Amino acid sequence: MAPGASKLLLTDIVSHSDKVPSKYIRPASDRPDLSNVVNSTFHSIPIIDMEGLGGSDHQKIINAIRSACTNDGFFMIINHGIPKAVIEGMLRVAREFFHLPQSERMKMYSDDPAKANRLSTSFNVRTENVSNWRDFLRLHCYPLEKFIHEWPANPSDFRQVVGEYSRHARELALRLLEAISESLGLDKQHMVKAMGKHAQHMAINYYPPCPQPELTYGLPGHKDPNAITILLQDGVSGLQVMHDGKWVAVNPVEDAFIINIGDQMQALSNDRYKSVLHRVIVNNKSERISIPTFYSPSPDAIIEPAKGLLDEDHPPVYRTFTYEEYFTTFWNKGLKSASCLDLFKREQFKVLETESHLNNN
Ligand code: OGA
Ligand code: NI
Repeated sequence: MAPGASKLLLTDIVSHSDKVPSKYIRPASDRPDLSNVVNSTFHSIPIIDMEGLGGSDHQKIINAIRSACTNDGFFMIINHGIPKAVIEGMLRVAREFFHLPQSERMKMYSDDPAKANRLSTSFNVRTENVSNWRDFLRLHCYPLEKFIHEWPANPSDFRQVVGEYSRHARELALRLLEAISESLGLDKQHMVKAMGKHAQHMAINYYPPCPQPELTYGLPGHKDPNAITILLQDGVSGLQVMHDGKWVAVNPVEDAFIINIGDQMQALSNDRYKSVLHRVIVNNKSERISIPTFYSPSPDAIIEPAKGLLDEDHPPVYRTFTYEEYFTTFWNKGLKSASCLDLFKREQFKVLETESHLNNN
């Protein structure tokens, strides 16, 4: 553990203050502007019932997925097949972990993004100027046997409960990747095969109540670097998604997961499906827990667009890269609204963007 690292954990400073410490205060031009958020009664993301995916509703569900991925980049799923007890167990041990005494939690602390299993705070404290109102435990979950013994041993059933949840999350991710492939008119196995040996990471995000939520973020606007994200959240709101140039609040729906397209799916689909900006707002009343499963290619996987989606009118938008290269760039760049994927664009698309930018101004 780094000397003085214990001072970094948010969980341990919040109870002592009724003001946000200065390192969490955003410049005035970069605050949440909560009066300008679309409430989910006016627009929310689509809800897709997965019940009939293996039966008579198959085509209807594939069509709904295509429409959601094309128009929103985000959707909720219900009847997804993960048992309620598994979900409740996951949320329970997550909360128990963050309520452990500091000395116990700090056994997992590291601010090195290269470390597979670690507790940390904000996003990347080594590179960022302003901190985010979030502590997080990050775990690698696949292959499970390789990582599970490095996970917290306290609470005593943590490994068993989180291990079971992550096995279910992986099965769900594979079903979604098949459905997404089909929705693009590709072979059902296309995306599964395009991601090498696969990897699965989990973040257990803990957002303590914040005395001045209008000055800071749980997470500022960003796009996820992985292929698809399966988000489990408790009953507290906080997630907002960019839609038609406006931030839209996505309030929790019981027993639903939120699915979103990440940068790798955007690259693999050659921009047919877009990775969409989202952010997390904190509140002054209650803590919030969210648990994204980031399903991704393995570090050695070579990312290139599906051949079936390329033709004269649709040339490859991005250069070929490995996921390892992408992931390192993402963590070093910091959470910015400008897409990390833009750095991987082929020259001709960079030029086009600059021209259209000039024309619009
Ligand atoms: C993330 C993220 C959303 C949330 O961890 O990348 O976007 O609701 N989390 O916490
Ligand atoms: Ni995210």
